[in-house]
Amino acid sequence: MKKTTEITIRRPDDWHLHLRDGDVLKTVLPYTAELFGRAIIMPNLKPPVRTRPEILSYRQRIVDCLPSNHTFQPLMTMYLTDETSPEEIRRCTNDDLIAAVKLYPVGATTNSEFGVTNSKKVYPALELMQELGIPLSVHGESSGPDVDIFEREAAFIERDLEPLRQDFPELKVIFEHLTSKVGVDYVLSSGKEVAATITPHHLLITRNDIFAGGLQPHMYCLPIAKREEDRQAIRKAAVSGDPRFFFGSDSAPHLVSSKENAPGAAGIFNIPTALAYVAQVFEEDSALDRLESFLSTNGARFYQLPINSDTITLQKATQPLSEPKDLSIGSDRVRVFRLSDPLQWIVTEGLKKTSV
Ligand code: NCD
Ligand code: ZN
Repeated sequence: MKKTTEITIRRPDDWHLHLRDGDVLKTVLPYTAELFGRAIIMPNLKPPVRTRPEILSYRQRIVDCLPSNHTFQPLMTMYLTDETSPEEIRRCTNDDLIAAVKLYPVGATTNSEFGVTNSKKVYPALELMQELGIPLSVHGESSGPDVDIFEREAAFIERDLEPLRQDFPELKVIFEHLTSKVGVDYVLSSGKEVAATITPHHLLITRNDIFAGGLQPHMYCLPIAKREEDRQAIRKAAVSGDPRFFFGSDSAPHLVSSKENAPGAAGIFNIPTALAYVAQVFEEDSALDRLESFLSTNGARFYQLPINSDTITLQKATQPLSEPKDLSIGSDRVRVFRLSDPLQWIVTEGLKKTSV
């Protein structure tokens, strides 16, 4: 059979993205805007984006940084805290200001200090969200001192998610950046209310990569990469075409000075290589015919948004591509996610070039 060397798909969306603010926002946003139609914007700024005025203001700062000819649409989220009132959520949904509300268990990841201490505290908010059909986006890790870091996802399902779903069976839940076999099995055993995002890096790396030849801070993110059997499970879910699994980059830029440091910041910036790596994975697993479902249609359907009508084209490179370059920010840099082997795929058409 002839090998596929070129594929055209509807323009993808990114269902989990950190854009940050200020200079970092300005630097990273064009890389997303040239490729993606929309992205779910994570609200874990410092301080977090918790109220309607804060969400409006953050959205405006993003739009202000968009290159002039771009049609990229940021889909905003609200950071849930113990104090979030259902009224504040209602105020943000009347005009569709938010696409989801984000639950960070307190202390689970970067800028989660204001996160939820106990899901019972947010029950009034969840009640309203269930009624209005607003999805809950969850950082699915329990981070108590008694939980092994590689078991955090399993502990979250048992201690937090399953009890919450028993009480709110109709609530739409997105299990963000799924990393474990237990997590995949949980989504598969749930109904259509539960979906999950999967990142490019978790399709490719395991915990071995974090310790290969020393401590590798650029392979460190949360949830932490897990065992090979977990990687295989999320890979199988991603390439399956099952509508409950879709792309969320979890691209999370940190300056190199705070990654190569103690303690090193958790998060991987991957947008410039994300689509190439995802295409590579789908090719390796003979699933290129399902690439569009994962990147461009499953997520929109879950969020009940229109599917993008324009397209992008990816091509298999005929010769090894050069290493992606880090992004300069002042005297610092943001490192682009890459593996030691050269990239194999490249976006050749549909790039929304930045005009000057
Ligand atoms: C993210 C960040 O830096 O904001 N870090 C990460 O390791 N993924 C937060 C998150 O999504 O957990
Ligand atoms: Zn994230």
